[in-house]
Order: sequence, then C-alpha cells, then structure tokens
Amino acid sequence: MKIIMLGAPGAGKGTQAKLIAEKYGIPHVSTGDIFRANLKAGTELGKQAKVYMDKGELVPDELTVKILLDRVAQEDCKNGYVLDGFPRTIPQAEVLKKALAELNDDVDFCINVDVPDENIIKRMSGRRACVKCGATYHIEHIPPKKEGVCDNCGEALILRDDDKPETVKNRLDVYHKQTQPLIEFYGDKVKNVDGTKDMKAVFDAIVAILG
Ligand code: AP5
Ligand code: MG
Ligand code: ZN
Repeated sequence: MKIIMLGAPGAGKGTQAKLIAEKYGIPHVSTGDIFRANLKAGTELGKQAKVYMDKGELVPDELTVKILLDRVAQEDCKNGYVLDGFPRTIPQAEVLKKALAELNDDVDFCINVDVPDENIIKRMSGRRACVKCGATYHIEHIPPKKEGVCDNCGEALILRDDDKPETVKNRLDVYHKQTQPLIEFYGDKVKNVDGTKDMKAVFDAIVAILG
C-alpha cells in the first residue's frame, strides 16, 4: 500500500503517518525528518536544507527528489510506504508518478488532513519533536510521559527552529501556493479527513478509508 499524506504544515501529517505505519506495517518516510536528521548529523545535505527550512521555504526539488527516490528504493519499502511531506510541488509529484509507472505501479491513497490556518499557528508553538525517531508531541494535546523526553527512545525533545509564528505564517503561504494544487493533481485518489478532531478520531477516520 502506497499512501501520501497531504495537508498544511502542522495539520497532523506526521502524527497520523506514524500511526498508519505501525498499523499497516509499512515505513513512515518523511522528507522533513530526513533533512532534520541530516542537520543533526552535520552533513552537507543538512546544511544546505537548513537555509531553506529556517525561512519556511521549500528545499529545491533537485535535492529533495533524489533523496526520496533513494529512500523508497530500499528493501523495507517494497511492500509500500506512507509518504509525509513529499510530494510538495507538482514537479515532485510528476517525478514520483514517473518512477512508479516504470515499476507498473502507482499511489493508492492520498489522505488530506484538513485543518484551517487559524488552528495551525496555535498548534505549532506547543509542538515538541524527537529528531532521533521522528515522534511528535504537543505539550497540551499529546504530552510525552516525562516532560521533554521522547517516550519511544528517551532522546531529549526539541522545539523546531521553523515553528516560530513568523516562519509558520510563511510556511502556510508556501503551502497554499505550491502544495495545495496537489489536491487537484491527485483527483479521485484524495480522501479528506477532518484534522481538527482529536488524534484518535482522525486516525479512526483514516482507517475507515484505508480498510
Ligand atoms: P516538514 O517536516 O514536512 O514540515 P511540514 O509539512 O511543515 O509539516 P509539519 O511537520 O510541521 O506538520 P505535520 O503535519 O507533520 O504535523 P504534526 O503531526 O507534527 O517540512 C519541514 C521543512 O522541510 C519544509 O518547510 C521544507 O523547507 C522542507 N521540506 C520537507 N519536505 C520537502 C519537500 N518534499 N520539498 C521541499 N522541501 C521540503 O502535528 C503538529 C502538532 O499538532 C504537533 O504538536 C502534534 O502533536 C499536534 N497534533 C497532531 N494531531 C493533533 C490533533 N488531532 N489534535 C491536536 N493536536 C494535534
Ligand atoms: Mg511533520
Ligand atoms: Zn524518539
């Protein structure tokens, strides 16, 4: 099963993608997480990506596409995957479509997690993230068991550099201009879920779609 998560920054794509990955036994592939892991490890890719991420801009397609195609070519992706944060532009979607067509394959579902912009900025300031395993928390809605520490792996949680309100606003603008057109691109494959509900209710709605 190949699934794409669509939705604005902070809509809950990562939160739901983790749950999907667990339930269906497929890897969660997040380009944002890959960039943050590279940044933490001090790689050249991480340094290049940071320049764009800190401004809330997209990392250029040339850099992003190669990383994604390499990742989904790995052995653990052969039975499917859930993509979170990719594609984010029409050219990225076209590259993915072409790569899958070469394998006589295509995306099965696009889950669009719908949350209005007004709710997003509030959510972001409370987010805490684990750079080691990709888990995401919210200090009020989804707190970790021990403050500041990841439940899964014990790593110290961080506040992302791009979660400052000014940067979030730019990320929302970039989303509306460059990413939202993908809803039309994927047409019938797109299934909408109301992302303003609590985490469990959103997941139940997704499971009802995926079966
Ligand atoms: P990326 O890491 O993908 O960030 P994003 O799309 O902006 O999305 P977020 O991770 O901020 O939000 P999310 O939808 O995953 O929400 P979450 O589950 O955390 O990308 C970051 C940057 O990397 C980009 O700006 C770009 O520069 C670059 N990049 C990445 N991919 C790229 C690509 N393909 N091309 C070019 N550049 C790329 O939830 C948010 C918060 O809400 C959390 O605190 C969570 O606990 C909480 N929450 C979740 N669900 C609920 C709920 N139902 N109720 C209440 N709270 C909830
Ligand atoms: Mg995310
Ligand atoms: Zn962790």
